[in-house]
Order: sequence, then structure tokens, then C-alpha cells
Amino acid sequence: MSTLIDRFGRRHTDLRVSLTDRCSLRCTYCMPEQGMQWIERGRHLTTPELLRLVRVAVDQGVRTIRLTGGEPLLRPDVVGIVRAIRAMPHSPEVALTTNGLRLTGLAAPLADAGLGRVNISLDTMDRQRFVRLTRRDRLVETLAGIAAAKAAGLNPVKVNSVLMRGVNDDEAPTLLLWALEQGVQLRFIEQMPLDAQHAWDASQMVTAAEIERSLADAGFELTPVADRGSSPAEIFSVNGGPQTVGVIGSMTRPFCGDCDRVRLTSDGQWMNCLFARTETDLRTPLRAGASDAELAALMRLDVAAKRRGHGTDDPGFTRPGRGMSAIGG
Ligand code: 5AD
Ligand code: SF4
Repeated sequence: MSTLIDRFGRRHTDLRVSLTDRCSLRCTYCMPEQGMQWIERGRHLTTPELLRLVRVAVDQGVRTIRLTGGEPLLRPDVVGIVRAIRAMPHSPEVALTTNGLRLTGLAAPLADAGLGRVNISLDTMDRQRFVRLTRRDRLVETLAGIAAAKAAGLNPVKVNSVLMRGVNDDEAPTLLLWALEQGVQLRFIEQMPLDAQHAWDASQMVTAAEIERSLADAGFELTPVADRGSSPAEIFSVNGGPQTVGVIGSMTRPFCGDCDRVRLTSDGQWMNCLFARTETDLRTPLRAGASDAELAALMRLDVAAKRRGHGTDDPGFTRPGRGMSAIGG
């Protein structure tokens, strides 16, 4: 049972761990072309430090660890990290969110180490658009990474797409057709105000409603699948099933009420929400010799103070101090 419970009774069993803030792409909704403020080397948790914090969280009832970033596969010992987490008490599930570029080499060793679910980001099937969106000419590698994930038996393989107005907002049907052919589960995510350069603009956001309309207009028959649990995605069966598509209305249809997620940044800050205004520093006490019980108490206190919702609709909404690539997606 999770001891990470907030004032609204939400129990937190899913921990997102950012392995690095660095990335091999520069997606425009995430990072500026240049001038990113990177986390200083000495502030990154070492792998033993990271594993200790994960284990303390598991002691508090966390049962799924999702490795994110930045690009988590840039961390040289990612396979060892997966293996070490799987070997912890309760054998937590390990999932991965990646841009896929390194999966050709890593999918098989990761699967062997016990990785389960994988989410790969892909926003377009068009090479020129990929370059415009990610500022790198690497579509072929992403597609090869998706193929490698399937070949390695990682299951399920999900693909995340963010649509941007005037860039790829016409591509929902094309992406879905491709995903159905490939046997991967596609999920569209509304663009969130989490880019490091603060360029997000509500009027530019392609909404969940628009995405569903665009798929319906293209002739896809979408039927809501009843129980989504604490999943942020609304899941639809496509053309009678069994294949599905997900739409994550992070902004227009917040799912905070069922949230079971907490986060650990690569520099050892604990966060109770992607949009949290505050972070709890675990790195400093950890390095000062804090006990497991003391670290656990800090985690519980932070979770207890979690707000009801992300509040992006409130007139007083202010963005979190850092962007998604530093917090972990
Ligand atoms: N809004 C929505 N999704 C984002 N991602 C990264 N930045 C944003 C943003 N500002 C996506 C990535 C990846 C996942 C971690 O979140 O494309 O699929
Ligand atoms: Fe890298 Fe992911 Fe940010 Fe794209 S969205 S730049 S792949 S961290």
C-alpha cells in the first residue's frame, strides 16, 4: 500500500525518474535551438544515489518506475539501472519514454534487463517536417528504433505525438494509419506550456477535440473504451477494434483527479506534479547522510502538499520553474 497519499486521498504508485536533462533532439515544443541552461554535472545524481532514492520510493509503495529525460538512453548505464530496479523488492515495473534514436542498439539489452512498456515520441512521418520539428534530420533512426522495440518484444510499444498548428496539425490520420499498420498504440498529447523557452501559446494548441474531429473526418470510427483507470489518455477503439488510439487532453481535459504520479529529476529534486511550483531537494540531505526514513519523510511531506489540479486555467497560473526536459516527461 502506498504511503504517498495527498489531502485528496490520491495514492501515488508511479514514479517518473529523469535520467538526464540532455537530449539528442531539439523538439520545438520542448527546447530552444540554442541556449539551453543544462544542469551542472556535479548536481546529477550518481547511479547509486538515484537507485537509493528509487528504492526508498518503492518502500513507500511506488510500483512503476518510468525512466524519462531529456533522453534517458543517453545515460550510459541505463541497462544496469533497469536491471537494478527490477531486482528491488516487489520487482517494480520499469517503463521508458524515449525519442527512440538509440533503440536500435539498446532495445534487446533493455528487454533482457526487464524493461516492459516503452513510449516513443514521433510527431510526423514526413522527413522535412521532422527536421522542422526536432531540428535534426533523424526520422529514419526514430523509425528504426520503433521497429527495434517491436522486434525485441517490448510490449506494448506506444507512440506519442504532439500536433502543432501549421506544422503537422493535418497529420493525425496519416499517423494513425501508420500506427495501425505497425501494430503500435498511438497517443496524441496536447501541447503543454512546458517548453524551456516559454513560447507556448494557448491559441496555437491543437486540442483533443480537434484531433478527434480530424480522425473522424478522415473516416476513422472511434468508440470510447470504457475504463481508463488512472491513465491520462482517453482510449478509443478504431473501426470496431481491437486496435486503439489515445488522446491525452492534458490542457483541455485535465485528469488530475486520478493522478498517481510523482517525479524525481536527474538532479535529485522530488516533484508532486509536472506543473508543481515547488520542488523538494532530496540530493542535499542524501549527500549529507540522511537515513532512508528521513528521505521517505521528505517524499511524504511533499506529496501531502500536492495541489488538487495543475491549475493552468486559473488566472494566477504560473509555469513551473523549469521545462519538461529538466523535470522529466
Ligand atoms: N507538451 C506536450 N508534450 C510534450 N512532450 C515534450 N514536451 C511537451 C510539451 N510541451 C512529449 C514528448 C514525449 C513526452 C515525454 O512528452 O514528445 O513524447
Ligand atoms: Fe528531446 Fe523529448 Fe525534448 Fe524532443 S521532447 S527535445 S526528444 S526531451
